Amino acid sequence: MVEHLNIDKLVLADSKNVNQYTLDEIRNKIILGDALEVLKKIPDESVDLVFIDPPYFLQLPKKKLVRWNVKTKVEGVEDDWDKFESFEEYDSFIENILSQTSRIMKTNATLWIISTYHSIHRIGTIMQNLRYWLLSEIVWIKNNPMPNWLGVRFTNATETIIWAVKDKQSKKYTFNKELAKEFGIGKVGANVWVIPLCTGKERIKKEDGEKLHSTQKPVELLKRIILTTSNEGDLILDPMAGTGTTGHVAKELKRDFVMIEREKKYIEGMKERFKIAPNIKDRKKSSIEEEVEKNS
Ligand SMILES: C[S@@+](CC[C@H](N)C(=O)[O-])C[C@H]1O[C@@H](n2cnc3c(N)ncnc32)[C@H](O)[C@@H]1O
Repeated sequence: MVEHLNIDKLVLADSKNVNQYTLDEIRNKIILGDALEVLKKIPDESVDLVFIDPPYFLQLPKKKLVRWNVKTKVEGVEDDWDKFESFEEYDSFIENILSQTSRIMKTNATLWIISTYHSIHRIGTIMQNLRYWLLSEIVWIKNNPMPNWLGVRFTNATETIIWAVKDKQSKKYTFNKELAKEFGIGKVGANVWVIPLCTGKERIKKEDGEKLHSTQKPVELLKRIILTTSNEGDLILDPMAGTGTTGHVAKELKRDFVMIEREKKYIEGMKERFKIAPNIKDRKKSSIEEEVEKNS
């Protein structure tokens, strides 16, 4: 079991009757509720790090997608939580979340937000409009990406993670540069991380053996984010927690967390997940990393 956590007291259901939470009430809690409502109740300048893995708004066609070469069905993100009526609705959702996180972040806190080409550019613009100051972006290369199905586009093997402070004046943020160099690709430790998609034993499954969540992020990804940009004892917020990768890894690395998730089925999965500590051991380098290292 993850140390010092009482699984029975892990979840806090948000209620309309509560106007404001104290940090003590929400520290190391998974809050069942709508992030748009819950964030408003979290005190100003209270967290050290934010990780957001929002809906991608993939806008996949309604028809069944079958790979052109092997004829297998493509398992995209078909969940209701990824559906919005329009770009305007999506932008307004993201803007709302990012305005609240800016208020909740301590002056020198930083924020990470991840997405694919479908929405990361919109997100970047919204961040700059809200005065966030972008510090870096990490390109996450998946060395086991979903195969290309129709052969009409490049196979998409990357996601982008923007890292920012809430204001250009925030200078004293945490950056553990030795670790950043160790995790980055090549001798210079560039802003490219090669990490496989979450599969095998790490993937949380339902009773029928199917995966619980369509976009569970790898432990290794959160490990790098947390180690490079936070310190032990810090409080980390994830307002759209899914399977709870952020909090699970945070606790193992001696940080505290606050997570929010709207769907009960994921909350149940998180409770089970927290019974066993995540595997955060060092990972063997991939062939891409070794090749770049050799030639850089
Ligand atoms: C991309 S997934 C996050 C996956 C997560 N990082 C993981 O490792 O499992 C986005 C999550 O946001 C949740 N979500 C979407 N809108 C929300 C809202 N308004 N409030 C709370 N959660 C929300 C969805 O239910 C979904 O689980």
